[in-house]
Amino acid sequence: MGKLFDIGLQQLTGPAPGDRAGVDAPAPNSARGTFFLETFGCQMNDHDSEKVAGVLLSRGYRQVESAEAASLILYNTCSIREKAAQKVFSRLGEYREKQKDGKIIGVLGCVAQQEGEDIFERAPWVSLVCGSASYRKLPQMLAELEAGNHRVTGLDTDTDETFETEMTRRDNPWRAYLTIIEGCDKACSYCVVPFTRGPERSRSSDSILREVRQLSDLGYSEVQLLGQTVNSYSDPTSRRMSFSELLLAVADVPGIRRVRFTTSHPSDFEKDIVEAIESQPKLCDHVHLPVQSGSSKVLRAMQRTYSREEYLEKVGMIRGAKRPIALTTDIIVGFPGETEADFEETLSLLEEVQYDSLFSFKYSPRPNTPSLSMTDSIPEEEKSRRLALLQDKQREIQRARNSSLVGETFEVLVSGKSRRENQWAGYTTSHRVVNFASQAQELLGTYVQVRVTDATPNSLLGEHAV
Ligand code: 5AD
Ligand code: SF4
Repeated sequence: MGKLFDIGLQQLTGPAPGDRAGVDAPAPNSARGTFFLETFGCQMNDHDSEKVAGVLLSRGYRQVESAEAASLILYNTCSIREKAAQKVFSRLGEYREKQKDGKIIGVLGCVAQQEGEDIFERAPWVSLVCGSASYRKLPQMLAELEAGNHRVTGLDTDTDETFETEMTRRDNPWRAYLTIIEGCDKACSYCVVPFTRGPERSRSSDSILREVRQLSDLGYSEVQLLGQTVNSYSDPTSRRMSFSELLLAVADVPGIRRVRFTTSHPSDFEKDIVEAIESQPKLCDHVHLPVQSGSSKVLRAMQRTYSREEYLEKVGMIRGAKRPIALTTDIIVGFPGETEADFEETLSLLEEVQYDSLFSFKYSPRPNTPSLSMTDSIPEEEKSRRLALLQDKQREIQRARNSSLVGETFEVLVSGKSRRENQWAGYTTSHRVVNFASQAQELLGTYVQVRVTDATPNSLLGEHAV
């Protein structure tokens, strides 16, 4: 998902331990040096990087905005599809020269976990290789690096711990990401996540709610709860809060106006989540429910644990809610064995569900995954053809859905200002982007009413309704 804007590092703060909130990054300790952290991949990676930055800042490092200015270069990587993983090695090649200048280079995230110590073979200028399940050990690993060790690894995935930090340096001053569950216990046959992020571990509800209170004190009004299968949340404390109870408890924290969550797995999506959204307007009216394919045969081969019909039952539950809930999804085209008829079932599912938006991908065979042993039978050009057809169809659905909103008024959290005079951008609670005109002096971070005057497939246009 694109970021609406970037803000400078000076503005960034994070929740501090204890009761005192709003503590700025500690004063830099020049002996520790500077770090540059680059992130690829999903929102979980973005947020992991925010926590990694927090760990480094609390140890006295200073964050800089270019690799040239840094003594420590960290690269948080993604391996969900082959292209993403390839990018990592080409970027590491660019860093090679930098190591000669005495810089320390580290690889974090999914590629680190997947490739492990082989990274030292392929890129001997790398000194740190650490997967996300080992981030808790980062302080020790940093100490080893500081002591001059040139081969430091954190690659264990057999952990029941989550990565909690005393300080997180957040990138967005209004919307805070917050991981509530790490890893994944599902076994989708195409997916590297169970290998790279390890088994499912839920954070305690006490700790989550404590952090939400701190975030609210810091001025955040929107929180987004994160997890690969966020709705599989299982509170490890004796309170045994269900996911929907947790959503309601987060929404009850004074100062919080919007609560989002992503990504939901269809098999664990139950009526109580819809009921929670119905009963509490602070719970955003948006569910991201990846389907991956409209064909039950392909879903079986993907080991998705539901059929087309079962998925459609969940959709019926969401569409039947007392207030409209936007629905978005992920789709893979060209999975091994996907016939033209299977693909057409995916197109007909789009027609039937009328998603508000979707992310679509060409199947990419990944190391360690069960589907690697299936022949990747669909030629690249055919995958591209299917992807284009799917995206064309969805564009028309979105054009019609967004057009039907012209004339309506929505609350928008303003999070971007255009270079053009009097033009602003923000999100509705259904996560639609709205570009709108207003004569107001300063709107960033505020909630305003916007009347929709026009629509495109990907955004709404409007004017500030005062
Ligand atoms: N090939 C293509 N797409 C994939 N995804 C996950 N693994 C693969 C793969 N091997 C997609 C799924 C998932 C999203 C995050 O990435 O659609 O929901
Ligand atoms: Fe991957 Fe499936 Fe887990 Fe999602 S639910 S992270 S697609 S294994």
